[in-house]
Amino acid sequence: MLIKRRRGWELPESAATPEAVFWNRRAVLKAAGFGVALAGASALGSIGAHSEDAKEEVDPSASLYPVKRNERYALDRPITPEEVATRYNNYYEFGSTKGVWKDAQALPIRPWTVEIAGLVEKPLTIAIDDLLRQMPLEERLYRHRCVEAWSIAVPYSGFPLKALVELAKPLGSAKYLVMTTFQNPDVASGQRQFWYPWPYTDSLTIAEATNELAFIATGYYGKPIPKQNGAPLRLAVPWKYGFKHVKGIVRFSFEESYPVSFWTKLVESEYGFWANVNPEVPHPRWSQATERVLGLDETRPTLLYNGYGEFVAGLYAGLENERLFV
Ligand code: MTE
Repeated sequence: MLIKRRRGWELPESAATPEAVFWNRRAVLKAAGFGVALAGASALGSIGAHSEDAKEEVDPSASLYPVKRNERYALDRPITPEEVATRYNNYYEFGSTKGVWKDAQALPIRPWTVEIAGLVEKPLTIAIDDLLRQMPLEERLYRHRCVEAWSIAVPYSGFPLKALVELAKPLGSAKYLVMTTFQNPDVASGQRQFWYPWPYTDSLTIAEATNELAFIATGYYGKPIPKQNGAPLRLAVPWKYGFKHVKGIVRFSFEESYPVSFWTKLVESEYGFWANVNPEVPHPRWSQATERVLGLDETRPTLLYNGYGEFVAGLYAGLENERLFV
């Protein structure tokens, strides 16, 4: 039996995992003949690629950080302690508990290539370090609001997604940017759980992707971003719920229509395309009115667009009939 010491800000797995997944997984395990469903799920979730003796790798991008902070994006609360933001994660590729950071260390992040594909002038495959050399790196302080009603406030380093869109030169017919996570079940035990629709994907409209707030994070707390937070590159769109923030990206594809995302495929009724933060639109199974601020013993009211309305509200003019907020 797994005995876990729980800190004040931690939720039991049943509360922290989007519940439909938690219950679906129990049902699937039961159907698949795993006797004790819950214990079976925990054991499967922690099949580890992690080795305690894994050698410390030196990240070749380490010398790029820290980068200059762009003061335009201010916080209304203290920065979350680094040890909290890097030890309480969602990364289903490595399991469905919040303690996946250890298993995530098994992910090789060099060599790492990024494919720019689909409706672009010239498809391109580029090594992450070559991409980093070309991009305008800066630091931004962003709030991050998970659909599970917890939040953090963190310093990301990286570059505006708009710079990557400009590099890609999408054709006029491109309407969406689809981001896809790596697929490597040898190191990511979660990807051996067949009931998830791997690989993880999510999409933005081109207008959202070129909004000034849309950011590709390659650094965290003035250093290369840790594997559990999405190394070597992940999306940060702070006005949207955290599940849109695709980690470990290997492909940016420009498309006329978007494929159904990972979470929408799993639970369509609970995780939609737009997923903009709105305290007045509850998740089907819980309120979104407030959020638990990790690292502070505090609950705060959640803000419309997570407080970023001045930057993004205009994107949604004329879309009032869409399901913008779940
Ligand atoms: N990306 C991938 N590939 N796999 C995931 O499970 N989880 C998402 C998002 N990106 C996830 C992902 C969710 S639900 C959240 S809240 C954020 O990552 C968490 O980011 P953090 O661990 O850096 O705080």
